[in-house]
Amino acid sequence: MSQYEIAVVVGSFRRDSLNRKLANAIVKLAPSEFSFKTLHISDLPLYNQDDDASQAAPVKRLKDEIAAAQGLLFVTPQYNRSVPGVLKNAIDHASRPYGESAWKGKPAGILGASVGAIGTAGAQQHLRNILAYLDVPTLGQPEAFIHAKEGLFDEAGNIGPDSKKCFQHWMDQYIAWVRQHAG
Ligand SMILES: Cc1cc2nc3c(=O)[nH]c(=O)nc-3n(C[C@H](O)[C@H](O)[C@H](O)COP(=O)(O)O)c2cc1C
Repeated sequence: MSQYEIAVVVGSFRRDSLNRKLANAIVKLAPSEFSFKTLHISDLPLYNQDDDASQAAPVKRLKDEIAAAQGLLFVTPQYNRSVPGVLKNAIDHASRPYGESAWKGKPAGILGASVGAIGTAGAQQHLRNILAYLDVPTLGQPEAFIHAKEGLFDEAGNIGPDSKKCFQHWMDQYIAWVRQHAG
């Protein structure tokens, strides 16, 4: 049985999302005591503070799943130099009501792939800012600004041979970070 369950948050709903593909591929580089569950965020309503006292069922489910996890893995595209709205919506939902955030203290890692050359650097910096406010200890190094190019994945959807060493190093550091910070 896995000792560490990681909640994965993918910031794209796109059918052929590169970031979902990246999330699915990178978790295969983790050791067997780690299991990964992608959080379902596409059925969340748009956040409205009026609903804080009676959060919708998908919001309660999201918060329960985060609470049950020992760590977080964010894999997100960059939209217009920041995080996609769907990701921010999920973060806002699970941060409320005030004082009852589900995110607090959960160790996190951030990855992101983009067809653009800056490889989600802008989105990741904004996400770090949000997570710092929410008291989420976030792995600083190595950063992973992925410029998605031919060969990033092999035909089976695994990380391709040229990038494997680099991603394995990222995963090893992430695993150490979660072990160090998980309560
Ligand atoms: C609304 C929108 C804004 C975008 N803004 C950026 C951007 O600021 N920088 C960038 O490199 N790519 C940007 N892109 C391109 C995305 O990186 C690209 O669509 C990527 O494949 C999205 O991730 P996904 O494949 O996981 O859905 C944008 C795409 C969309 C739809």
